[in-house]
Amino acid sequence: MRVVIENVEKRFGDSKKKEVTALKNINFSIEEQEFVVLVGPSGCGKSTLLNIVGGLLSPSQGEVYFEGNEDKDPALGIVFQEIALLPWRTVYQNVIYGLEERGIGRKECQEIGQHYIDMVGLTGFEKAYPKQLSGGMKQRAGIARALAVEPDLLLMDEPFSALDAQTRTIMQEELLTIWNRTKLSTLYVTHNIQEAVYLADRVIVLSRHPGEIKEIIKIDLPRMGRDQEQYRKQFERYSDEIWNLIRHDAQAAIKEA
Ligand SMILES: Nc1ncnc2c1ncn2[C@@H]1O[C@H](COP(=O)(O)OP(=O)(O)OP(=O)(O)O)[C@@H](O)[C@H]1O
Ligand SMILES: [Mg+2]
Repeated sequence: MRVVIENVEKRFGDSKKKEVTALKNINFSIEEQEFVVLVGPSGCGKSTLLNIVGGLLSPSQGEVYFEGNEDKDPALGIVFQEIALLPWRTVYQNVIYGLEERGIGRKECQEIGQHYIDMVGLTGFEKAYPKQLSGGMKQRAGIARALAVEPDLLLMDEPFSALDAQTRTIMQEELLTIWNRTKLSTLYVTHNIQEAVYLADRVIVLSRHPGEIKEIIKIDLPRMGRDQEQYRKQFERYSDEIWNLIRHDAQAAIKEA
């Protein structure tokens, strides 16, 4: 399935005076099995765009549509920065939440739930409650929940930004391994340039005020092992290229904050 984002614009605020144009002229697509990363400084509209693609917000102008299986509504898996696990449900019950909502039977829930719990490395924690989990484990559970509905599109908004640096690195590696098995079309938001170059097929760089696409950069590196020595030069070149595109806006964002 292909996702097309066409001429999307988003304005916030009711009176013309105070209106903020968060996004303008947004045009891109997410191809089947493609991992697209949105980067840009704070406030450039990354979350707004992700929420529009996920149908949680409607655009002021333009549209988002899915090509490829018009006869059914696309299934979406969403992972937010702060994982909203239901505190009264166990890991297993959280993971199968979306399946239950769809009326899927107990046995199938069990099979699918266990499959994704194993995939994210939470085997043995099925009966644990969210408060018993570390930040990284909560994020794993959130990812398993998003994958369990076998989505046509996976949306992730800074899923690892609340984690410490070591856990974050491990989670990035694991996400890549999981992604390699599922090959889901993915839209991933981050303000971390290294993370973008590490994960993306294409990086979309947004500018701010209004959020517009500055550049789309194809990362021509093998999917796995991009952090290896042999790719270091190319990795740095991509990182520098992206940093040079957002440096000015990032500095402006800090001054405003
Ligand atoms: N509900 C809202 N009402 C009014 N303005 C909003 C609303 N949501 C977002 N905005 C504004 O739209 C712009 C983009 O916000 P958004 O949260 O999408 O940025 P972001 O790139 O995700 O930032 P961050 O990196 O800090 O998460 C900002 O100027 C923000 O203040
Ligand atoms: Mg955001």
